[in-house]
Amino acid sequence: MSSQALAPGSATLATTDVVLALRDIGKTYTSGELSVEALRSVSFDIRAGEYVAITGPSGSGKSTLMHILGCLDIPSTGAYLLAGDDVSMMDEAHLAHIRNRRIGFVFQRFHLMAQLSAARNVELPLVYANVPALERRERAVEALAQVGLRDRTEHRPGELSGGQQQRVAVARALVTEPDLILADEPTGNLDSVASADVLALLDEVNALGRTVVLITHEPDVAARAQRIIVVRDGYVADAGQNDQRDLQSTSSLKATKSWGPTL
Ligand SMILES: Nc1ncnc2c1ncn2[C@@H]1O[C@H](COP(=O)(O)OP(=O)(O)O)[C@@H](O)[C@H]1O
Ligand SMILES: [Mg+2]
Repeated sequence: MSSQALAPGSATLATTDVVLALRDIGKTYTSGELSVEALRSVSFDIRAGEYVAITGPSGSGKSTLMHILGCLDIPSTGAYLLAGDDVSMMDEAHLAHIRNRRIGFVFQRFHLMAQLSAARNVELPLVYANVPALERRERAVEALAQVGLRDRTEHRPGELSGGQQQRVAVARALVTEPDLILADEPTGNLDSVASADVLALLDEVNALGRTVVLITHEPDVAARAQRIIVVRDGYVADAGQNDQRDLQSTSSLKATKSWGPTL
């Protein structure tokens, strides 16, 4: 897919390391006479290699924002550029393609296929991307090794602990080498030990150069990120600050571009 510049400013986006740009995003849900403005004029950038938490109270618009960032839904107004492409206007087929190639999802409930082995689960995004079987297998095993599950490739989800299942989900998110890892309450279904384990893994993923966006309502989970975006009543109440570590991760991105399963 080509990197298209849509607005005069977006040419700059394509040449800098901004991986994700939201401009005046609004989302209104309408059912019958009722309409709810879930997001109002939300704008921020996330740069390659950042680790950002999006947090806020219940009903503030986090899930709505997550759906838009993950190309699971489109905004009512505004522009969303992911790696330079405006996804605000794309049709469902196009969005599905972007979801598959550019975003690695980690969900609260893991969303693994119970009847498939860990390796088969991790292979799935590559099946949709038409990667040949042998290469798929190799990349899935490599991704599982990256998350410390080299010796669990043939286990089914039911034979793994919650923390291990979430590790499989992280491997599945990484296997396509996406622009963005989007984790939606990834520790929500885990005990404190497994939560710490998965958060440590996300730290590692970020330290190796991946851009990570973590949606959470838990302040101590949000505190793991280097930048916290606070959403309140559909607005960004605080877009957070990029600090020094951000620059370090960006340079480690350049140094470790080939990190992850071999292409
Ligand atoms: N599908 C929907 N239809 C109508 N209103 C919705 C829908 N989804 C969310 N909302 C409303 O939008 C606002 C933001 O919701 P949401 O994004 O789920 O917040 P959060 O994830 O922070 O709890 C809330 O007022 C919610 O009731
Ligand atoms: Mg929510």
